[in-house]
Amino acid sequence: MKVLSFKNYQSLSDFAATEIANAIKNKPSLVLCLASGDTPKLTVELLVKKIKDQKIDHSAITFIGLDEWVGLPPENTGSCHYFFQSKLIEPLQLKPSQYFLFNALANDLQNECIEMDQVIDQKKGIDIMLVGIGMNGHIGFNEPGSSFNNLSHVIELDEVTKSVGKKYFTEQVELSQGITLGFKHLMNAGKVFLMANGIKKADVIKKTVDGPVTEDFPASIMQKHQNGFVLIDEEAASLLNKTA
Ligand code: F6R
Repeated sequence: MKVLSFKNYQSLSDFAATEIANAIKNKPSLVLCLASGDTPKLTVELLVKKIKDQKIDHSAITFIGLDEWVGLPPENTGSCHYFFQSKLIEPLQLKPSQYFLFNALANDLQNECIEMDQVIDQKKGIDIMLVGIGMNGHIGFNEPGSSFNNLSHVIELDEVTKSVGKKYFTEQVELSQGITLGFKHLMNAGKVFLMANGIKKADVIKKTVDGPVTEDFPASIMQKHQNGFVLIDEEAASLLNKTA
């Protein structure tokens, strides 16, 4: 794992977007997995702009959504589905065969997990995964205590996740479970970017980078990834001893 520190949110987002755009140029059939949420917003916007401005052929990429709130319809503006649909899928006019998102309304959520794992297997794994980090150290909805050996799974949400998650919604919603890719997918991904910005993420970044590797603090798994990068702005880096 490497830590890369950037002056601000704009420059770290631009770095991530450039990395992904270049990866698509080098491998037009790139399998890309992204988190939703506040952190990757600008990266996704910049990525779409780069693909359009540079006319990068994205007709063969595969996109995989990292997670979803169980029970939320895709048209809910706080859902991960809505985020990807409005920010990536529509702007890039991805074909339905190019993207895979968990259906959080499915009667059989276990089957959703099996199908997602099969898709990832068929695509021969994820090339690039870009994730955020929760205030409890979660990645996706791999909450504290989640096994590092998980594939896709359904999970009871941590209290911190339920409380922080309210920020995505304009109305009151009942958040109780999440459906998410697991850490086996993350460890098997060719490259992983974990992004964080702002002073509020300084403590979780310190634990991610300098703390013990433990399932009690999920993001610590990044230390084990051979091609993992922690991308942070100066504020999120402020508690670290040194950064590259
Ligand atoms: C969302 C997701 C979550 C977020 C994390 C940070 O798809 O996977 O793990 O990445 O909660 O959220 P933000 O970026 O809003 O601080």
